[in-house]
Amino acid sequence: MTHLRSIALFVICGMFALPAAAQKFEGLAKTPQLGWNSWNKFACNVNEQMIRETADAMVASGMKAAGYQYVNIDDCWHGERDARGFITPNKEHFPSGMKALADYVHSKGLKLGIYSDAGWKTCGGKPGSRGYEYQDALRYAEWGIDYLKYDWCNTDGLKAEGAYLTMREALRKAGRPVLFSLCEWGDNQPWNWAKDVGHSWRTTGDIYPCFDCVEDHGTWKSWGVTYILDKQEGLRKFAGPDHWNDMDMLEVGNGMSVGEDRAHFTIWAMMNSPLIAGNDLRSMSKETAAILTNSSVIAVNQDAAGIQAFRYAARDGVEFWFKPLALNEWALMVLNRNKESRPVTFDWKTESVVDELSKRDAAFDRTRYQLRNLWNGQFAGSTAKPLKAEVGGHDVLVLRLIPNK
Ligand code: GLA
Repeated sequence: MTHLRSIALFVICGMFALPAAAQKFEGLAKTPQLGWNSWNKFACNVNEQMIRETADAMVASGMKAAGYQYVNIDDCWHGERDARGFITPNKEHFPSGMKALADYVHSKGLKLGIYSDAGWKTCGGKPGSRGYEYQDALRYAEWGIDYLKYDWCNTDGLKAEGAYLTMREALRKAGRPVLFSLCEWGDNQPWNWAKDVGHSWRTTGDIYPCFDCVEDHGTWKSWGVTYILDKQEGLRKFAGPDHWNDMDMLEVGNGMSVGEDRAHFTIWAMMNSPLIAGNDLRSMSKETAAILTNSSVIAVNQDAAGIQAFRYAARDGVEFWFKPLALNEWALMVLNRNKESRPVTFDWKTESVVDELSKRDAAFDRTRYQLRNLWNGQFAGSTAKPLKAEVGGHDVLVLRLIPNK
């Protein structure tokens, strides 16, 4: 009798059990996402005309052909919530509405991204998603949104993991596949819990368009390129296909020198960071366009093995970073942090480049590699002879190592 009663109880409880939690939309970022975002250049000055023109420029500049896909509107697109709590876009800046804008972006073969925040308000003081997660996700799905960057301002009393999980569930229930980009600046170590929540997580505070400066805003700081790089220490083991360390959006074309922009872009590529351009695509210089569309460097970022680079050696402000690639190839970035150019030598045969994480051994003593310089596209000899090069100040040399068959 007791036995029967417990079976009955078990059955009844089973009937009321919560459905299993949904999963993130898997496979949307098997390689790091490529796109553009409005914030770095335009801050709160966003409108539909500029977004349409950016989509046009993404195609015309060759960026789409190079793999860029997402056109992302950052903060301040918002109007008010309606009487039932649904969010509306700012009517003055987005008079045609988000659905029409998404249709336009889709007609170019691109995808549209949007921005919200886990707190009551966004960082720009617009309505946040707290308490409205399911409504917001439904609306984004109706509009045809493909990407959500989800920020972390004004989140007093919230736990990051729970807040981001709520939005993941909401997006999943709304049913339209959305790449979920977590932006909580690394404050709550998202690398420890976000693998199954989103497709990438910011590891740091905001970037600043300089090579190695820190910009102090009083209550917060933003960071130059090398500062962001240094904050990635210890994080490579957490990233991989569909879950990337996000070093923030690019500042290529926003004021650094061409060499610095090239170094910045190469570092982000080597580190498997999402490559999200942050400049005005409609008026960029030839040099900026050439950096953003360098398909050989993009290929390092998009490599199927999905293994982030590691620093192998640092000598006199010059660093050697290696990235294991698919098919036993490697990428080598020589980063010169000095202001002045430096002669560099690297005697392959005496170096032992082994990656404990991926269990890869370059075995330069037994394997000969052909070298291709990814910025000028030229073959640059092989590992039979020591590498000798001059690397400009605040610049990089990046080589692809292709083993002899
Ligand atoms: C935060 C984010 C930025 C940007 C702004 C918008 O600072 O980290 O990337 O989205 O908010 O207000």
